Amino acid sequence: MTRRELVQLGSAAAAATLLSHAARGATASPSPAPKATRVAVPAADGVRRSERPLRILILGGTGFTGPQQVRYALARGHQVTLFNRGRRPKDWPGEVEELIGDRETGDVKALAGRTWDVCIDNPTSVPHWVRDLGTVLQGKVGQYVFISSVSAYAQTDQPGMTEDAPLAPYTGPDALQETRASLIANLALFGPLKAACEAEAKKWFGEATTIIRPTLIVGPGDDSDRFTYWPARLARGGDVLAPPREDPVQFIDARDLAEWTIRLVEQRAFGVFNGVGPATPMTCGALLSGIRDALGSDATLVHTDAAFLAAQKVRPWADLPAWVPGSGATAGFSRVSNGRALATGLTFRPLATTARDTLAFWNALPAERRAQPRAGISPEREAAALTAWRAGQKT
Ligand SMILES: NC(=O)c1ccc[n+]([C@@H]2O[C@H](COP(=O)([O-])OP(=O)(O)OC[C@H]3O[C@@H](n4cnc5c(N)ncnc54)[C@H](OP(=O)(O)O)[C@@H]3O)[C@@H](O)[C@H]2O)c1
Repeated sequence: MTRRELVQLGSAAAAATLLSHAARGATASPSPAPKATRVAVPAADGVRRSERPLRILILGGTGFTGPQQVRYALARGHQVTLFNRGRRPKDWPGEVEELIGDRETGDVKALAGRTWDVCIDNPTSVPHWVRDLGTVLQGKVGQYVFISSVSAYAQTDQPGMTEDAPLAPYTGPDALQETRASLIANLALFGPLKAACEAEAKKWFGEATTIIRPTLIVGPGDDSDRFTYWPARLARGGDVLAPPREDPVQFIDARDLAEWTIRLVEQRAFGVFNGVGPATPMTCGALLSGIRDALGSDATLVHTDAAFLAAQKVRPWADLPAWVPGSGATAGFSRVSNGRALATGLTFRPLATTARDTLAFWNALPAERRAQPRAGISPEREAAALTAWRAGQKT
C-alpha cells in the first residue's frame, strides 16, 4: 500500500477535518541530538506549577489538541496567547490573550512587534504559513515548535523508524505556492508538504526549532471519528468485525501529546521527536479487547485476516480505522520508534481512560452528528463481511 493509497483510504471527511485545522525544499537534514534530560512528570491527580513561567504563543489552540495545550499550560502557570481566525471561541480555565489573523491569506500582522518565549504552531500543513510567520517572528521567539506528522516520512515499510528516517520529497513546482486549497485537492501532498514545512521552519528558526511528528491523535474532541469508531462500536455490543489480532497499532491521546508538548518547551528540548504511543508495542487484539473491557461491553471480537478483508473490499484505516496491515508496504506504519520522546518525559494515560472519555465525548454529540460517522464500516457492510467470514471458516 503506497502513501497515496493510504491517504485515499482515509475518509474524505476525516482528511478535510485534519486540513481544516490545519508551512522548500529539500528533505530535512538529520536532526541534532535533542538537548533534553529526563524530567519529573506531574502526578496524574494534580498538576504542579512550573518553576519557570513562560510566555507561550499557541497558533490555533481552539480545535482538538490545542485546547489541551492551553489547559495544561495554564495549570502549569504559563502565560498563554492564542492566534487564530476566532471562529471557535472557547471558555478557558484562566486568563488567555486572543489575537486574530488568517494564515492562509498571510494576515499575521497581529503578531508583529511582539516577543514570546515559545511559539507552538498547531494547524500548519503548507510551507507559506511557516514563511509568513518567519517574516514576523524570526528572532522574536526563543523556541518554535512545529506540529508535523509521521506522514512526513518517505516510506512506511520499515519497522522501528527513528526521527532520522528519510522524509517524503516534494516533487511539485514550488512548495511555497501550495495553499491549503491545493492540498485538499491533492491529499497525497500532505506528507511531502509537512516535510517541506519542517525544512521551512529550520530556515526561519534554525536551532530554536522543535519538530513533533505525531501518529494518529485520538480522544475527546476528535472530529475525525477514526479511533472513536471503536469505543462507539464496541459499546453497541454483538459480533464486531475486527482486523488481524496480531497486527500492530499506534495512537496518542491528544491530552498526552499536548501535556508532553508543554513539558518539552519547559525543558527547552530542541530537535525532532516522534509523538507516538503507546509506551510499548500494542496489537489490534490488545487494543480492541482493552477498549471492550474498559467499557464493560459484552461484544465479541471477530478477528479476521488481511487477505479476507481485502477480498471483501473492507478498507484499512477507513472501514476499520486505526488499522493498516502490519506487513508489506505498511509494515512500519504502526511500528514507529518513540524512544526519543519517552526519554524526554512522554507519558500515557491508560487505554481505559482514553476509551471511556472518548465514548463519553461521542455520546454527548448531537444525534444528527452521530448518525453521520466520518469513519468506520456501516452496520450493513459489517454484517455482510461477518457472514462471509463465518462461511469461509466452515469450508
Ligand atoms: N489528527 C491526527 O490524527 C493528526 C495526526 C498527525 C498529525 N496531526 C497534526 O496535528 C495538528 C493538530 O491540529 P489541531 O487541529 O489539533 O490543532 P488546534 O490548534 O487545536 O486547532 C486548529 C486551530 O487552527 C486554527 N486555524 C485554522 N485555520 C486557520 C487559519 N487560516 N489561520 C489561523 N488559524 C487557523 C483554528 O481556529 P480558527 O478556525 O478559529 O481559525 C484552530 O484554533 C495538525 O498540524 C495536524 O496536521 C494530526
